[in-house]
Amino acid sequence: MPTTIPHESTLDDAISLISEGYPYIKNRLEKYNSNIFETRLLGEKAVCIHGKDAAQLFYDNTLFWRKNVVPKRVQQTLMGKNGVQMLDDKAHYHRKALFMSFMSRDRIEELMRLLMRYWRAYARKWEKMDRVILLDEASEIFCLAACHWAGVPLKPSEVRQRAEEYMAMIYGFGGITTRYWRGVQARKRSESWNEQIINDIRSGKLHVPESSAAYQIAWFRDLDGELLSTEVAAVELMNVVRPIVAIATYVAYSALALHQHPEQEHKLNTRGEEYLQHFVQEVRRMYPFTPLLGARPRHEFEWSGYTFKEGTLVLLDVYGLLHDPEIWPQPEEFKPDRFKDWSGSPFDFIPQGGGEFDTNHRCAGEWITIEAMKASLKFLTRELHYIVPPQNLRVDISKMPTKPASGFVIAEVKYVG
Ligand code: HEM
Repeated sequence: MPTTIPHESTLDDAISLISEGYPYIKNRLEKYNSNIFETRLLGEKAVCIHGKDAAQLFYDNTLFWRKNVVPKRVQQTLMGKNGVQMLDDKAHYHRKALFMSFMSRDRIEELMRLLMRYWRAYARKWEKMDRVILLDEASEIFCLAACHWAGVPLKPSEVRQRAEEYMAMIYGFGGITTRYWRGVQARKRSESWNEQIINDIRSGKLHVPESSAAYQIAWFRDLDGELLSTEVAAVELMNVVRPIVAIATYVAYSALALHQHPEQEHKLNTRGEEYLQHFVQEVRRMYPFTPLLGARPRHEFEWSGYTFKEGTLVLLDVYGLLHDPEIWPQPEEFKPDRFKDWSGSPFDFIPQGGGEFDTNHRCAGEWITIEAMKASLKFLTRELHYIVPPQNLRVDISKMPTKPASGFVIAEVKYVG
């Protein structure tokens, strides 16, 4: 028998979502003692769901699709229009295969080589600096490595500007005024830069390696046999470089975790690759990045005694799942060893989405993220000496997306690699 589910009685809860941030869904689930509730966001009904079973439901392609899910403000900042995130069914599988083709072992190793080269070059520069904002510098390092790897030409004079544009897009969607507009402007500038690159590759003015993402995207044909429009190809090229730049945030969180848990450094140095893997998994679980994900039912169905109506906005509680004490006991404690016993389920550890890589919208770059975090962490612990001066390291979870307030400042840097 269908039942009624708890619902927020406010006219529109968008302001509460923006002001409470990451724990918005969790706060209400606790209030209602339920894994589901209904609310209204930006003028439409939304059903928020929580838990491993909810994630499994959410990634069932026979029940949900992504049509008309991404709000305009996210398209104008983070994602752009008509990229892989917004496709369904065969069109999605076909486009997703393009992204997954960049994720071979050889291509990932090549990216890691580039990344290390830029980490080391920057470390020598930092020795001469009084203080280094790790997040800003890492965003440049990741931008350089990503552009080089993806076949995107980047002049030394524009590295800072392009890295800042990508970071503004990543941090723009949750802002209300300045942060949001900075994101919108950054996307406009970056889209026209990437459109120019696609046009130059297609006209023969720019030669890039055939194995590069820029080449593959420029010459990719959709299911109708046509090349992507310049605009969509640029959005997809940005869908490769931008999220690689985003990994800088996870690097800042890794450095923060090391600082907050000094005993971890010894463990990292003595307990081998498996511990390193568990450490970065724990960083991706514990520190906030993706707050929630949206989809819409393709048709009416029942779950947990509740009728999901066709087209209703359904939001999956990503942050809440990563902090659910039933799945992750003492979730606010940093315990990499918890991953020794993790089953590897695609539905309970979803910092970058869940389900399958090829047929669901799970992040195409999850392997790159993990490898880049591990390489960066090794670099920070084995090749660099630094101190962490007093600063504001607070991670404000009422802001989406968030980061350590100071960007994680280091000083007295010595490269010892
Ligand atoms: C999708 C997070 C790094 C490429 C996603 C999704 C999330 C996510 C939450 C959506 C999952 C869903 O809708 O179900 C992150 C985070 C990253 C990261 C937090 C690191 C900070 C990367 C990297 C790449 C990448 C390094 C590529 C080089 C993509 C693509 C999609 C995606 C192409 C769309 C997949 C699809 O729609 O099928 N990511 N990602 N991401 N990510 Fe990532």
